[in-house]
Amino acid sequence: MTTQQVIQVQGLEKSYDELQVLRGVDFEVERGSIFALLGSNGAGKTTVVRILSTLLKADAGTAGVNGFDVATQPAQVRESISLTGQFAAVDGILSGRENLVLIAKLRHLEDPGKIADDLLARFSLTDAGGRRAATYSGGMRRRLDIAMSLIGSPPVVFLDEPTTGLDPQARIEVWNSVKELADHGTTVLLTTQYLDEAEKLADRIAILHQGRIIVNGTLAELKQLLPPAKVEYVEKQPTLEDVFLTLVGDNGTDAAAETARTGTEK
Ligand SMILES: Nc1ncnc2c1ncn2[C@@H]1O[C@H](COP(=O)(O)OP(=O)(O)O)[C@@H](O)[C@H]1O
Ligand SMILES: [Mg+2]
Repeated sequence: MTTQQVIQVQGLEKSYDELQVLRGVDFEVERGSIFALLGSNGAGKTTVVRILSTLLKADAGTAGVNGFDVATQPAQVRESISLTGQFAAVDGILSGRENLVLIAKLRHLEDPGKIADDLLARFSLTDAGGRRAATYSGGMRRRLDIAMSLIGSPPVVFLDEPTTGLDPQARIEVWNSVKELADHGTTVLLTTQYLDEAEKLADRIAILHQGRIIVNGTLAELKQLLPPAKVEYVEKQPTLEDVFLTLVGDNGTDAAAETARTGTEK
């Protein structure tokens, strides 16, 4: 545990009545990195994000964000984060620029107009800035939403399935915006059910499955969990999809997960 770890999660448990969703989740996220929490629909990704953003209380375990405990210092945690969900907070009646100015004013920041213009430029929305957000494409709306979440410069940004429901072109635009965040030193925790998204964006990938993190590593580390398959004379490297399906798939789940946890195969 060092100060480099801006998110620290230990032994997190959460049930909804009889449904045990988190059964002891552990992970850490290094400052300035992009961390992908990868899992199927219903794996508990949003539950983790809601606990980390103080919207939901865990049944057991601890979580710290930016040095503050989510259970005992929720106000400080909230000042350290922004949360962007699948459903954008953008107001379609207002222009992109007006949306940004509004948030900056609500946060009592100086020079809301300059803040808005800078963010429009950063997210390639300058030309569209004067248009009503209702006329934006899905990717533009999501980019505007991410830009809005950055007002006040939170050191930690949670993006809960930032590209779900977007077309391929829009997804690439959002990916560029997420990279842009990390390039500026923001720590990004994103959840996704898309393997290619984790593969493209994340410095580290953790797979949440059956209530626990079954693997956590860089893409290269995850790929090493599977021996390269020999196809005729060409060595084929496993894709993240191969790794994911081997660990999470119906066959051999437990054995593969155990191998992943212990790092040994006997
Ligand atoms: N408020 C709730 N009450 C009851 N069950 C819930 C609630 N929120 C989520 N769940 C259930 O918990 C599981 C995990 O949900 P969620 O964290 O949203 O998963 P994910 O974001 O990975 O799709 C799902 O089975 C979901 O139906
Ligand atoms: Mg979710």
